[in-house]
Amino acid sequence: MGGHLGAPHSYQLRILGIESSCDETAAAVVEDGRRIVSSVVASQDAIHAPYGGIVPELASRRHLEMIVPVVEQALADAGMRVSDVDAVAVTQGPGLVGSLLVGCSMAKALAYAHRRPLVPVNHLEGHVYASFLADDAPTHPFVALVVSGGHTALYHTDAPLSYTLVSETRDDAAGEAFDKVAKLLGLGFPGGPVIQRMAETGDPAAISFPLAHMTDQAPDFSFSGIKTSVSLFVKRAGTLSDERVADVAASFQAAVVKMLVGKTVKAVLRTSARRVVLTGGVAANGPLRAALAAAATEHGFVLHVPPRILCTDNAAMIAAAGTARFLAGARATLEMNAIPDLSLAA
Ligand code: KG4
Ligand code: ZN
Repeated sequence: MGGHLGAPHSYQLRILGIESSCDETAAAVVEDGRRIVSSVVASQDAIHAPYGGIVPELASRRHLEMIVPVVEQALADAGMRVSDVDAVAVTQGPGLVGSLLVGCSMAKALAYAHRRPLVPVNHLEGHVYASFLADDAPTHPFVALVVSGGHTALYHTDAPLSYTLVSETRDDAAGEAFDKVAKLLGLGFPGGPVIQRMAETGDPAAISFPLAHMTDQAPDFSFSGIKTSVSLFVKRAGTLSDERVADVAASFQAAVVKMLVGKTVKAVLRTSARRVVLTGGVAANGPLRAALAAAATEHGFVLHVPPRILCTDNAAMIAAAGTARFLAGARATLEMNAIPDLSLAA
């Protein structure tokens, strides 16, 4: 995503965001937590594709190569220098430790050298704040469905920066299931976009993959059962025609979407919230967006989904969450460390 220089405008707070928690090296400048001045994302998809998943060692090495050019590009696109921003916000966790450390070191160096405040950001809060960069920003209270390659969780948020965990996955994250199923169908990495594409020509009702735990009242998600039944189906079938692969992709995707939408609707109806934020890499999925939009109409809640480019990992969302945290007084010292298992709910 390139930067854009609009007409002169006033702003209160300008934040440089840095993200390196997983396999995207990203930097962005955001004004007032709402307006993206520049946003640069360097994807490592091509590096991890041969392995069908993220290789942490390769990820951190690539972050090291990319972090300086990506930050410089974000500043150049914005027509700014570090001294033009009011603070540097960086993802502290959760994520891969070697990856997180690269962004954290860069942010600390910039904060120290340019005497800017350093603001630590939770990556999952970043995903939630992507929705505040969209035209129709949500108002509290809302329920947030965060679905990514590493996380699948529902949060209830009554007030800014306050989260209660409603449910999470008992096993795999939804994005992880997409990636694993794509790998066993030989479709490549990352799995989400390629499964969605294959599914377009398939029949979502062709194969019934069991929805584990859908019948019990437990609010938690589970994707390993679906993944295992796809694996068994593929093994039993031997070689699959392209049409059959499309059917498997469509049927798998339909099962995941049904699980995500079903649990989200249940969670919303149990709260007073009538707004839902759908975010994280898997929120880029067209059928999921459509199914949750239909559920919103049916059950009378308002759905907020950031544009696709803001659903997958980026630094504009980190700058947006960093703005809220900055205004609430969050500051880190140069002792700040990456926290790979940082959680969002208190
Ligand atoms: O949020 P994200 O960019 O990184 C993490 O924080 O994990 O999410 C990446 C995940 C991957 O598992 C990828 O397969 C999935 O998001 N994803 C999708 C789609 N685009 C990306 N899943 C389903 N449909 C998509 N269109
Ligand atoms: Zn993410």
